[in-house]
Amino acid sequence: MKRYVILISGRGSNMLSLLDAGLPGACAAVVSNRPDAAGLALAAARGIPVATLDHRGFATREDFDAALAAEIERHAPDLVLLAGFMRILGDGFVRRFQGRLLNIHPSLLPAFPGIKTHAQALAAGVRVHGCSVHFVTPALDGGPIIAQAAVPVQAGDDEAALAARVLAEEHVLYPRVARWFLEGRLGLVDGRARLAGETPVGGALHVPHIA
Ligand code: GAR
Repeated sequence: MKRYVILISGRGSNMLSLLDAGLPGACAAVVSNRPDAAGLALAAARGIPVATLDHRGFATREDFDAALAAEIERHAPDLVLLAGFMRILGDGFVRRFQGRLLNIHPSLLPAFPGIKTHAQALAAGVRVHGCSVHFVTPALDGGPIIAQAAVPVQAGDDEAALAARVLAEEHVLYPRVARWFLEGRLGLVDGRARLAGETPVGGALHVPHIA
């Protein structure tokens, strides 16, 4: 059975969507860089081994990355899933796990990398927003996109309303992509995401600008 490790920093709702999806693999551990991450208790309650590596206890980013890599490698995972993990990982770490390291980002990349993505989307006045799952490469939020889900931006939306609409799609999209990987259908080939077998196709999404 394939093994995966999930990295979190906070609430852990994406982590839960993965743990509760009946994926064809075993979650070997959930690791947080923040001791107060609410997701840790949720994982522990499901019998998943949890660990915290507080980044503030390390002198350099490289030291933290090395300790995190060692903690992950202990579990010999086939797949590492960043699920609301809010630390930038250095090139060495990313290269070590490249091809088996996925992230979910709350925007339709390459639009709105970084943080405060919903505020960025509202400020830009886009009519369509969403989330992306991508392979992690050294380019921040710039790795090959595997799948995206789009939602409309509605009149009167504030950050919280938009975030909630996107989050509901994150909870569907990430387990779907993780399943493809664990089934051996998804890989990083020549710098691009490749998915074998049938690919779900949606219709066009037309979202008018209504004042
Ligand atoms: C999610 O919206 C996730 O996409 C985002 O943080 C939130 C974590 O929520 N991740 C990033 O912004 C990564 N740069 P969760 O802890 O409930 O899954």
